Formats: sequence, C-alpha cells, structure tokens
Amino acid sequence: MVGALGKHIAVAGFMGAGKSTVGARVAELTARPFVDLDALIEKRHVPIPELFARGEAEFRRIEEETLAELLAGPESVIALGGGTVLSPLNRERLRSRAFTVYLHVDVETAWARVRSSDRPLARREDEFRRLYAERQRVYEETADAVAHDPDGALLGALGVGIRGSVRASRPLAVVADERVLELHGPPLDAPVHPVPSGEAAKTLAVVERLWSELEIGRDGSIVAFGGGSTTDVAGFVAATYLRGVRWVAVPTTLTGQVDAAIGGKTGINTADGKNLAGAFHFPESVVVDPDVLTTLPEQERRAGMAEVVKSGLLAGRELWSLPEEEMIRASAAYKAGVVLSDPYETEGRRAVLNLGHTFAHALEAGSGYRVPHGEAVALGLLAALRLSGLPTDAVEELLRPEPVAADLDAAWAALGRDKKGAGVFVLLEEPGKPVVTTVPDEDARAALAALVRQ
Ligand SMILES: NC(=O)c1ccc[n+]([C@@H]2O[C@H](COP(=O)([O-])OP(=O)(O)OC[C@H]3O[C@@H](n4cnc5c(N)ncnc54)[C@H](O)[C@@H]3O)[C@@H](O)[C@H]2O)c1
Ligand SMILES: [Zn+2]
Repeated sequence: MVGALGKHIAVAGFMGAGKSTVGARVAELTARPFVDLDALIEKRHVPIPELFARGEAEFRRIEEETLAELLAGPESVIALGGGTVLSPLNRERLRSRAFTVYLHVDVETAWARVRSSDRPLARREDEFRRLYAERQRVYEETADAVAHDPDGALLGALGVGIRGSVRASRPLAVVADERVLELHGPPLDAPVHPVPSGEAAKTLAVVERLWSELEIGRDGSIVAFGGGSTTDVAGFVAATYLRGVRWVAVPTTLTGQVDAAIGGKTGINTADGKNLAGAFHFPESVVVDPDVLTTLPEQERRAGMAEVVKSGLLAGRELWSLPEEEMIRASAAYKAGVVLSDPYETEGRRAVLNLGHTFAHALEAGSGYRVPHGEAVALGLLAALRLSGLPTDAVEELLRPEPVAADLDAAWAALGRDKKGAGVFVLLEEPGKPVVTTVPDEDARAALAALVRQ
C-alpha cells in the first residue's frame, strides 16, 4: 500500500505543534473522521493534568488502550498526544495501521504557544527545551513523513515531494518523453526507454514495446519522466508488467505536477477514445521539480494553469495568485486531499475534479480533438461558473478563453455521453463549495453554444 491509502493518518509532534488544528483540517479535506486522542481521553476520564497526578504510567496505559481502539476502527485522522510515540507498542501499532506525519514546529513557537497552559510537561522552559530535543529524534524515527502544515501532510500522505530526490527500489528503468529527454537528459542513472513526445505515447503499441524491452524484475521500479501522457503510459505499464511493479512519477509539465501525476489513474487511449484502457496504480512517490518547467512551451503552461484555476475554484482559494512553487504545492495538495477522500472513485467524491471538464470533453469531441484540452477546460470552467451564477472574471483574466470552432450537435451528443447521469454537472454554490447537481437541458445546451464560434 502506498502512503496513507487504506490506513489512518496519524499526526505526531511536540506540544504546541498544532496537531489538533492541522489534523482537523486534514480530516476535513480528506472527508475522514477526526479524533483528538488527548481530548477523547479527557472526555472519557478526567482532565489530563489530573490523570498525570495519579502517575504517568496510568495515563500511558489508558493512552495505549484508546489508541488501539481507534486504530481498529474506520480510517480516520488521529491527532496523537505529544508523548504517544514514546511507547514501543504504540509505535508498532502505528507502523502497521497508520501513516504517521511528524508535524514539525520549532521550539520557540511551541513554547510561546503552551507556556501559559496547564500542561503538566510545560511548566519550566528549560525542561521543555530538553524534552523537545529528546523527543525530536523519536518523532523522526516514527514518522513516514514530515510536514509543517495541512498541505504538507496531504502531500506526504500520497508520497508527493517538492524538490525531493527519486528514491525507489532497484533495479530501475526510466520511461521518458523523448522531447523532455533531449531538453533535460535522464533524471537518474539507469536504462532509459524513450517514448514519443506527448499524447502519441499513450498507445498499446508503446505499451507492448515497453513490456518486451523492460529488464527489471518484480522488485524493481519504473521511473516516469515527462508530462501526463508519459506518466499515464508508464504508470499503466507499471500496473501490468509482471502483474505490477512499483513506480515513481517525475512530472515535467505543470498539468503533470498539479494533476496528472497525482491520484493513481494510469492508462492509454484506444481506437474508441481517450483513456479507455487503464488501471488505478498509485506511484510510490511523485517527485516535483518546478525548475523543469522553464522549458515548457507557453501553450502547455496555459493548459496547466486551467487545472490550477479549476483547483482554486474548488478549494475556494486564489491558488493562481501564489508564487509559482507555492501555487504548484497548494494545487497538488488540493488534488491529494480529494484523492485521499475517495482513492478508487467509489464514493463519488473525486467527481468534483470534473469541474468544467464535462463541457471541455464535449468541445474536444465536437472539434474532432482539434481543441487542446487546456483551452477546452478554460471554456468549460466559464460555462460552469455561468451556470453557477458566479463571476467569471478569474477565468477570463487568467485563461482568456475564446469560443472555438466545433460542431455543436456533435459536442452536445458528447456532452450527453460524458455527464455523470442525465443532466448532472459539477457546479459551485460558491468558490470552495462544489455541488453535483442537475441542469435543465436547454440551459446546458445554451451554455455549450456560447462556447462555440458561430
Ligand atoms: N492520470 C490522470 O489523472 C490525468 C489527469 C490529467 C491529465 N491526464 C493526461 O495527461 C495527458 C496530458 O499531459 P500533459 O498536459 O502533462 O502533457 P503531455 O505529457 O502530453 O506533454 C505535452 C507536450 O509537452 C512536452 N513537454 C513535457 N514536459 C516538458 C518540459 N519540461 N519542457 C518542454 N516540453 C515539455 C511534451 O514533449 C509534449 O510535447 C493527457 O493524455 C491526459 O489524459 C491524466
Ligand atoms: Zn483536465
């Protein structure tokens, strides 16, 4: 299992790190229940200072018992107590049932936050500092990831690292977009299998070639180096070669870094359409390096911005106004949260990510796939905002969508096939509040017609 999939998310860290606040936010974003271990113990027993007064051993026994009970329950986000990970038994249970995030805080901030509280271990600053130094090592040893905020926890929980290095089990094989390879060279020293640049890589012929070329065994890993097309095909090969090997995504487009490489969907196109054969197969990690985007053509950057605007509208945050690296990080984290809320798309929660995409797919189909995806998404977002009765200025200013040449009847027919049931669309009640709702046919058709050049 990769990251926090199929596991609890446990938030560990020192007093004053903000475990409850961050844990509650991560729970909200992943649609999981939130439990604060200390608060639960206090609710069931007496305030913790009183329990401590009876002796720390008694408190630790209750803590072990309560944690075991939570870990046996439904997948949730658990804010641990500051000392929970000191117990070897707790550590062992966390290792098997939870993905543990060490929420890091510096000692000054922590002390400033807790000095005036009644916490038994925060009475004297020198002792507090000594304890901080002592515990740091235990947190580091226990944690599967380190984070400073909710976004960091979400990224960690899906193995997404910004500016990290590729760590994967060997032997490795690199599957790389040939254009990206020309521009940047291979991302690491291992046999390289070039694939055609962009969408042309997503064919069964490429998959068959890779199946026969690869020389790694079941314990090896594939490293995908390229945009969404490369990560889609390489991920699909990883899902199927020898019945599945591990893989790492190194996305090189903005679309790849904020969207395509995150979420475990892999696949290729068939004669009948895009992405019609595929598998869920999550990469062990996703290594995002914003520096590779310097060579990205303008049109590809705009396509990525359309996905950033989509995520910003869904998240209710102006992600597009952030400096580039923060924008990528926050957009990727938003997607990670939605994916964690419904990893295999069984609960319908991932459907919100289709904001603007129902119209986009219709325009793509109605133009015989001459309208690029990014442009189609920009127009689709415009339609979704109009149908939501919301201002369209963010989309207009950032993406400057212009009506495109397409066959309206063909687009309308495609819309009928794509939408998630009769007349069902993702709209926004307001930014940050997506709703899956029905739209009368005449309104949907008028909204579509407004996107097509007459
Ligand atoms: N799996 C998912 O969840 C998911 C989500 C969104 C999109 N996708 C898929 O992603 C594909 C689109 O991917 P994309 O938009 O990332 O582009 P892409 O992979 O198709 O690449 C587009 C072009 O950019 C070039 N390129 C890539 N990185 C570059 C760089 N750093 N510098 C210069 N040129 C570079 C490529 O060679 C290609 O010519 C589609 O097939 C779509 O279906 C998948
Ligand atoms: Zn898209």
